[in-house]
Amino acid sequence: MKTIEWREDGVYIIDQTKLPHQLVLIKCEDYERIAIAIERMEIRGAPAIGVAAAMGIALAAKKVANCGSLEEIKKELDKAWRRLQRTRPTARNLFWALERMKSAWSSADSPSQIVKKVVDEAIKISEEDVAACRAIGKFGAELISDGDRILTHCNAGGLACVEYGTALGVIRAAHESGKKIFVYASETRPLLQGARLTAFELKTEGIPFKLITDNMAAHLMQRRLIDKVLVGADRITRDGYVFNKIGTYGLALLAKAHGLPFYVAAPVSTIDLDITPDRVIIEERDPNEVLYINNVRIAPEGTKALNPAFDMTPGELVSAIITDKGVAYPPYDLSLLLRQRN
Ligand code: MRU
Repeated sequence: MKTIEWREDGVYIIDQTKLPHQLVLIKCEDYERIAIAIERMEIRGAPAIGVAAAMGIALAAKKVANCGSLEEIKKELDKAWRRLQRTRPTARNLFWALERMKSAWSSADSPSQIVKKVVDEAIKISEEDVAACRAIGKFGAELISDGDRILTHCNAGGLACVEYGTALGVIRAAHESGKKIFVYASETRPLLQGARLTAFELKTEGIPFKLITDNMAAHLMQRRLIDKVLVGADRITRDGYVFNKIGTYGLALLAKAHGLPFYVAAPVSTIDLDITPDRVIIEERDPNEVLYINNVRIAPEGTKALNPAFDMTPGELVSAIITDKGVAYPPYDLSLLLRQRN
């Protein structure tokens, strides 16, 4: 089953806020509904929100194709583009996909051509994601040994992409190749993507795993129960700084302290060669996500909370970055450039 799918009558997404209890599809008929789905995290994960934004532009084009001149249509697409761009700030894939969509419509010279170009491009971005995750799985599985116990954080699985996953794509590929692996999934407060989504995917795939709370990782490493750490990424800068779910940096420091490899898996569309780490915006989300669990308040009235959604792991803590174009090793300024140009 796909996380997001283009169909003739609309874009269908799995509502990730309802998992693991209910598997519900949301039908999006316009770009505004897609934008809201990204903001509410009904769809989330860097590659998936890129695909969603692309499909949002395609929906916008379909809606306005018969109601104006080419210039008017392009103006409408630009409005949709700006709305979708404002949904979440950190994941590179969202902006990368929107840039591709803008190039697709810029070259169109008739209203009918514009619809075809943007619909084709959105479907292509979606299909490319599936292929990229398979390639990441293939390259990454070579770094996994029989018997490995792997810690992963947040959800970098099929639900964060179109269907196969990045970090979970590697885990899946290693498992499919017959290696006996065991996964520790950290629950990932505040929104519990590890407990709700990664556990759901691992269970569905029949991959052996245990769920842990975020504060158990150091203890497990000290007891020599973890061999490798493997996570996804929302944005990677040219010198290998990795922006990923809050808590990732702590795990990278712990891996270093315990002499464990720390791997990041991401498609080259997550790599941003044009930005320096200090300019990456770390999304600040509603403090209520920290103060409440399932609508139940867990802190005294009047308590204030912080809620940065991502953190930054310096490249010196990253053993390798597994991309769809091969594995990049330090020094990253050279290896990431080569992977992206590959
Ligand atoms: O806030 P989220 O759930 O969108 O954050 C997702 C992550 O941090 C993932 O690890 C990242 O997007 C990689 S997904 C293949």
